[in-house]
Amino acid sequence: MFPFPFSFQNGVIVVLVLLLTIKLYLEITKGVCKSTKRLDGKTIIITGANTGIGKETALDLASRGARIILACRDLKKASIAKDDIVQKSGNCNVLVKKLDLASLASVRQFAEDILKNEPELHILINNAGCGGMKKQITLDGLENQMQSNHLGHFLLTNLLLGLMIKTAEKEQENVRIINVSSDAHYICRSLNFEDLNFIHDRTAGTFLAPYKIYGTSKLCNILFSIELANKLEHNGRAVTVNSLHPGAVYTEFGRFSSIFSTIMTISMYFLKTPKEGAQTTIHLAVSDEVANVTAQYFRDCKIATPSKLAQDNGMAKKLWDVSETLVRLQSHEIFF
Ligand SMILES: NC(=O)c1ccc[n+]([C@@H]2O[C@H](COP(=O)([O-])OP(=O)(O)OC[C@H]3O[C@@H](n4cnc5c(N)ncnc54)[C@H](OP(=O)(O)O)[C@@H]3O)[C@@H](O)[C@H]2O)c1
Repeated sequence: MFPFPFSFQNGVIVVLVLLLTIKLYLEITKGVCKSTKRLDGKTIIITGANTGIGKETALDLASRGARIILACRDLKKASIAKDDIVQKSGNCNVLVKKLDLASLASVRQFAEDILKNEPELHILINNAGCGGMKKQITLDGLENQMQSNHLGHFLLTNLLLGLMIKTAEKEQENVRIINVSSDAHYICRSLNFEDLNFIHDRTAGTFLAPYKIYGTSKLCNILFSIELANKLEHNGRAVTVNSLHPGAVYTEFGRFSSIFSTIMTISMYFLKTPKEGAQTTIHLAVSDEVANVTAQYFRDCKIATPSKLAQDNGMAKKLWDVSETLVRLQSHEIFF
């Protein structure tokens, strides 16, 4: 029995208390990067840095003195973001370079430019992502979300790996690769290597397909991180690779899907700001305490446990081989 009559008014009070408790819990558990480390002399690439979490990450790292390369597909938006970052950070060493992860040619062109013009690369942040869009096949014959979120970053990272290894050897300290994944990977119950483009998937054509593809691409971010970290460690290379969930963050991400947009608008009060959402990425990029940590998944600046599937080394290996074929990595580009 309730100790008081359960009126409408009391119901409203109970709901309000519950919501405030959830909000309080979310506030208390938010991870914050506490490192004050400067990054003068370091070169950092951030994909999808013209807005949202990527832009906030770029602003923070620019404020620490690094040379920042904003790797973006929309040069106009990126140039506006760059001006804002330069103005707020007081660091003029911020560049924009064209990168469309949904095009293998664009990824190759971007990597070629970097290899030609940048003598060093200390941190690579694979942040760009899209989600919840209708299935679409790109000019490369690959599913758009899978290519934008996983395959494009897979190719990019492989093409830049030599430069990063060279940088680590020269600096005598670990360089870092950070892959922005998502807890959305938990929705994946399996990974069909025969159909990574979701042509024959049983959800194909249903409203579920876009979300399943998004979750799969984010699972691939984690498996890719594990396998790359293992390969690098096995070869004694001073490069760490970690992945992360930034939290539920109020960004422009909802523009890709009306369902995401509705959920984000309804729950706006409970979501992190982009600055808060960038904290785990920044922590992985700068903190001394994670300088030697590799192959881990992070949430709120702490090591977290991803799904069982995302911890499967066999899956990670297989995904690597299939991805190599799908992005048409040339034999001379295969590092391991
Ligand atoms: N927001 C969340 O709650 C949340 C939760 C978990 C994980 N994440 C992950 O966090 C990352 C950043 O998302 P966000 O919330 O900051 O979203 P956002 O504000 O929409 O930013 C996404 C960025 O990725 C870029 N992008 C998308 N597809 C691209 C492509 N093919 N080539 C190059 N750039 C591309 C976008 O460029 P345009 O501006 O040109 O579209 C934009 O700069 C994503 O990987 C997302 O999966 C977000």
